Amino acid sequence: MEARRLLSVLLFLTISYSTHAHNITRLLAKHPTFSTFNHYLTLTHLAPEINTRTTITICAIDNAAMSHLLSKHLSLYALKNILSMHVLLDYFGSKKLHQITNGTALAATMFQATGSAPGSSGFVNITDLKGGKVGFGTAAPDGADLDVFYVKSLEEVPYNISVIQISKVLESDVAEGPAPGPAQVNLTGIMLAHGCKVFADTLLANPEASKTYQDSVDGGLTVFCPLDDPFKAFLPKFKNLSAPAKVSFLEFFGVPVYQSLSMLKSNNGVMNTLATDGASKFDFTVQNDGEQVTLKTKSTTARITGTLIDEQPLAIYSIDKVLLPKELFKAGAPTPAPAPAPEKAADAPKSSKDVAGAPASDSAPADSPDADGDVADQRADDNAGVRYGSRRLAAATLSLFLGLLLL
Ligand SMILES: *[C@@H]1O[C@H](CO)[C@@H](O)[C@H](O)[C@H]1NC(C)=O
Ligand SMILES: *[C@@H]1O[C@H](CO)[C@@H](O)[C@H](O)[C@H]1NC(C)=O
Ligand SMILES: *[C@@H]1O[C@H](CO)[C@@H](O)[C@H](O)[C@H]1NC(C)=O
Ligand SMILES: *[C@@H]1O[C@H](CO)[C@@H](O)[C@H](O)[C@H]1NC(C)=O
Ligand SMILES: *[C@@H]1O[C@H](CO)[C@@H](O)[C@H](O)[C@H]1NC(C)=O
Ligand SMILES: *[C@@H]1O[C@H](CO)[C@@H](O)[C@H](O)[C@H]1NC(C)=O
Repeated sequence: MEARRLLSVLLFLTISYSTHAHNITRLLAKHPTFSTFNHYLTLTHLAPEINTRTTITICAIDNAAMSHLLSKHLSLYALKNILSMHVLLDYFGSKKLHQITNGTALAATMFQATGSAPGSSGFVNITDLKGGKVGFGTAAPDGADLDVFYVKSLEEVPYNISVIQISKVLESDVAEGPAPGPAQVNLTGIMLAHGCKVFADTLLANPEASKTYQDSVDGGLTVFCPLDDPFKAFLPKFKNLSAPAKVSFLEFFGVPVYQSLSMLKSNNGVMNTLATDGASKFDFTVQNDGEQVTLKTKSTTARITGTLIDEQPLAIYSIDKVLLPKELFKAGAPTPAPAPAPEKAADAPKSSKDVAGAPASDSAPADSPDADGDVADQRADDNAGVRYGSRRLAAATLSLFLGLLLL
């Protein structure tokens, strides 16, 4: 227990010193009059995106200007777009702002980088004005309304990140405008186009499950869709299920909460699904080993292989296996378990492989949907999962730590 805590502290220190050059949340925390702006950078998940970039400028607005923006009661989606208009993808310190070549420039913003900004609407016009003023405005074909002004510099880390105060919100009809309402997002369309066609087709053929998915988007939804090859191979078994079991099975791949990949990476634990109904748990366990996120049920382990969409309130990931809920695939699985013993045997070579630094190559023999039916077995599995997890953590920490020593 002690050792594990020490390891996680080490891991934390290693990660925080090695991968993040700056932390916008921490930089802004020094300036309490920007606490609302800071809070919304976190809420909209822009903060981690900002932390991974360098050569950027954050145009912050104070609490009074933020409360004016918030009084419009925009959706979180629209707020994210507006705030991403305040992240310029270039470094503008105080000096550079006052010495713009030719007195005017267009700066691309993070909103432009999302690809949802038509024309020049994702650019900010910065112009040096009379009397040493610097004006800002959303770029438009007929020039910009330069009615927002530079106030002062808050933080400068040349040339990684500059945080400046501007007088008020950079208005943008496009960013505020009717966001592609989450309810209009075509879930199956996104799956079809990104390697989960068989799952999408199966979902479309089941109106009840389709409706559950579509109705859940607004409130936040995370979908884990099995890739085509594994799902195709699974179809005969799916067709064998009763009608209500089919619905539950399909709903089992949706979680009624939005979870970004970084949230999944930092949250291990049991997750309820759209199929969860009181005593019918239909849940699975999220467990991660460093960068790799895995989903586990009693008989299967699937890994996240890709992100199809991650735009609050919706995230869709692809997974490499068909996760089998224990409520439907308890004892009736096709191939009898090879033997109750391989748990240990399978565990040992796996972790030695990890120490050797090849975490991607475990094809996990324990993953096959073998039939292990009883409760005692379940407990054994759970314990093995924990042991396995901490050993992996140890290996990951060790290698990160060694990497740090080498620097
Ligand atoms: C700027 O970012 C780079 C790359 O992330 C980092 O190596 C460097 O230390 C940063 N500079 C400062 C002054 O923080
Ligand atoms: C950034 O700083 C905040 C506040 O100190 C902290 O909660 C957060 O974990 C930090 N993020 C990273 C990526 O270090
Ligand atoms: C500044 O203006 C000159 C002359 O119009 C032009 O050639 C040059 O490209 C401009 N520079 C920038 C950075 O816009
Ligand atoms: C910025 O806006 C001003 C005022 O409309 C305009 O005169 C200027 O040409 C614009 N700058 C650029 C680079 O488009
Ligand atoms: C979603 O996209 C698929 C494939 O592009 C299409 O067949 C289907 O009709 C669309 N559904 C809706 C509700 O637009
Ligand atoms: C489907 O169910 C039948 C009858 O229970 C069984 O014989 C058959 O093996 C099952 N097929 C699959 C693919 O599970």
